[in-house]
Amino acid sequence: MKVIRTIPEMQTSVKQERREGKTIGFVPTMGYLHEGHLTLLQKARETNDIVVLSIFVNPTQFGPNEDFDAYPRDFERDEKLAKEAGVDYVFYPDVREMYPKEMSISVSVQKRVDVLCGSKREGHFDGVATVLMKLFNIVNPDQAYFGMKDAQQVAVVDGLIHDYNFPIELVPVETVREEDGLAKSSRNVYLTEQERKEAPALYASLQAAKERIGQGEQNPQAILSFVKNYIETHTSGIIDYVQIYSYPQLTEMDKLEGKLILALAVKFSKARLIDNITWTV
Ligand code: PAJ
Repeated sequence: MKVIRTIPEMQTSVKQERREGKTIGFVPTMGYLHEGHLTLLQKARETNDIVVLSIFVNPTQFGPNEDFDAYPRDFERDEKLAKEAGVDYVFYPDVREMYPKEMSISVSVQKRVDVLCGSKREGHFDGVATVLMKLFNIVNPDQAYFGMKDAQQVAVVDGLIHDYNFPIELVPVETVREEDGLAKSSRNVYLTEQERKEAPALYASLQAAKERIGQGEQNPQAILSFVKNYIETHTSGIIDYVQIYSYPQLTEMDKLEGKLILALAVKFSKARLIDNITWTV
């Protein structure tokens, strides 16, 4: 496994692999790897000759009051896990390498961002699209792997790939969870012991709502009230949003049918957790 810290070296390495006819699977991350990330790597390993993992805590996707400085980092541990996962290249640039000067062209996401996290984290998906545009050009992969834990991110990447004609197949991967249902996240380490006990209620609320819809409930408002009430009763967290939309268009529905996303964000004392389920009614 090779750790690469510069853009030219990454581009040259990939070019060489491609010249030899190898396919490239790419897993972009911000590090502090957990089983969610490792599952993406495993999927990439299964179908590609070469697996590239990027680790870059991207400042442009964090708002001024968000946790960029406090975001957990542990490169030594990540390096060991990546090696065990069979990664060929770790692209690990620093901020100056990725953003040496103020950019002269900006990326601004127009659709699928006025709801869910997009409406709560202004500019977040512009930052995500910016860094992915750069990473796609640097790594030039055949397939790129993204977790459905961040379903809105998957919807935005889908738009980016189609609108800008990246010859990349987007591979969405199911959310990986703890045994009690809590979605794995680098931010879970910031939950207090009590909050960690409460946190499985987030997924439980989504599952219970899905069951209600399965039993015939078609009114979006009834479902949203049900989920909010469930979270307020079972956790000390503050609800940031609970929303239900068509997926991946992320448009409102009068009646619950077709492919849906039911998604939530809840603020605990030091961590804001998100979760969602997508399914077809
Ligand atoms: P990060 O939060 O590190 O996540 C990297 C990838 O792992 C994303 O595709 C995310 O959806 C996936 N992932 C995280 N937790 C998961 C889980 N429990 N199950 C399945 N997949 C999971 O998402 C980002 O980084 C950044 O926005 C990035 C795309 C790297 C751009 O900076």
